[in-house]
Amino acid sequence: MTLFPIETERLILRKFRPSDAEATAAYQGLAEVARYCMWEPRSLERVRELIPRWIAMDGQGENSEGLQYAVELKASGALIGDVVLMFEDRAARQGQIGYVMSPAFQGQGYTTEAMEAVLAVGFEQVGLHRMSARCDARNTGSWRVMEKLGMRREAYFREHAIFKGEWDQEFVYAILEDEWRAAREVN
Ligand SMILES: CC(C)(COP(=O)(O)OP(=O)(O)OC[C@H]1O[C@@H](n2cnc3c(N)ncnc32)[C@H](O)[C@@H]1OP(=O)(O)O)[C@@H](O)C(=O)NCCC(=O)NCCS
Repeated sequence: MTLFPIETERLILRKFRPSDAEATAAYQGLAEVARYCMWEPRSLERVRELIPRWIAMDGQGENSEGLQYAVELKASGALIGDVVLMFEDRAARQGQIGYVMSPAFQGQGYTTEAMEAVLAVGFEQVGLHRMSARCDARNTGSWRVMEKLGMRREAYFREHAIFKGEWDQEFVYAILEDEWRAAREVN
């Protein structure tokens, strides 16, 4: 099973390295980036703490939390974001995806390109049955990515939780393996 690295047209999805801390904190430390994420802006120290956990997320073994990728731009070798596939329910083969892109590189289709590759890995190599994602309804860039990936909007929760001190509004999107395969045959 080849899970690392993954090459796409413009990107390389690879394992994190300790030396990625500064580049990662440069975007994960921004309020605008953390706004709709489950975490608050991350300091360099916090990113340094997290990197060993991300490196351990290599998809190997029954207890693996999932797959964590650093996203590198082929053209320059720069780290421009990170994407994740969390393993949720082993028996039911469920996964949850997530993504963060540095603002300087947003709006250029990089996240969609990276996540197309992650969906392929999840369905073809990991053998998942369904992958889902959650985002705030106001996070247009995020749910646009899910729609471009062919995911279906399964839920729109309104005020079902307190998120960062205020009522949330949350979309849940998902795609089944069959749906993903059928869409690939058409395109
Ligand atoms: C969500 C995020 C990863 C998207 O990354 P990206 O690289 O810009 O994504 P893509 O370029 O592949 O696609 C984004 C799409 O949303 C659209 N979009 C982005 N912001 C938008 C906005 N404010 N209004 C309308 N459309 C918007 C883009 O035009 C693009 O659609 P298009 O290709 O049809 O034009 C990025 O915005 C980000 O990192 N945000 C901060 C972290 C975050 O919120 N992560 C998700 C948590 S659930």
